[in-house]
Amino acid sequence: MSDHVSRRGFIGSAAAAAGGLVMAGAEAAQGAEPAGKAKILGINCSRRAGENTARALAIALDAAKAISPDAIEVELIELAGKNLHAEVAAGIELAEGQTDDFLPIAEKIGDPSVAGMIIGTPVYFSSMSSPCKDLLERFMLFYKQDHALHNIVAGVLAVGGARHGGQEVTITSVQASLFCQHMIVVGAGGKTSRFGACIWGGAEEGVEEATNRSSAEALGQRVAEVALAMR
Ligand SMILES: Cc1cc2nc3c(=O)[nH]c(=O)nc-3n(C[C@H](O)[C@H](O)[C@H](O)COP(=O)(O)O)c2cc1C
Repeated sequence: MSDHVSRRGFIGSAAAAAGGLVMAGAEAAQGAEPAGKAKILGINCSRRAGENTARALAIALDAAKAISPDAIEVELIELAGKNLHAEVAAGIELAEGQTDDFLPIAEKIGDPSVAGMIIGTPVYFSSMSSPCKDLLERFMLFYKQDHALHNIVAGVLAVGGARHGGQEVTITSVQASLFCQHMIVVGAGGKTSRFGACIWGGAEEGVEEATNRSSAEALGQRVAEVALAMR
């Protein structure tokens, strides 16, 4: 964190300012530096929990953990059904009675144990899903706090129903947004995918098809190895 705001500390303030969540634990109160395992998050930006994007993320996360099981822990976050009101990022207050689910997600992302994340989105008309765009716009919270995601490693995975359905252009669009956060954006380290994990949900064996699997694994491995190198 050095000259950057303690992510744990800032999320606590942001949550308190929103009249919502309070950080738990003595470490949070003291703004302690990260210890223990490096956490790699998988964030599923599909509107359907547990489907192709979630399955592909699970493959990537398993591969990330396998890089060093004693040093890495992984967690999948599902955005399906969550209210991520992007207008809040533009300074518009929630209407009375409107609920918003971003802060608990921001707490997970902002936890100092997080060293990397893999953002998974379905391809929707050659672009990212709207929950993915909402999430990236809500990253304004981190952007405004001295780029609190500075040096967190990020990889992107896109799932399309077609073999060449716009996965790469979708991945690069998500990556472009992550550069704004001063994150360390990586591609997939393997031989079959360059920009990230390109997944063809329509394959006969679905997400488990060999090329899909190696693409997701290569991304997870690359995020994990760079995340460990950054510690
Ligand atoms: C609105 C919409 C637009 C889509 N557009 C594309 C597309 O442009 N290219 C493509 O390959 N698949 C497209 N698909 C298919 C999804 O990417 C595919 O079904 C994917 O598996 C969805 O992810 P999920 O299983 O995690 O929900 C589209 C699906 C929807 C609902």
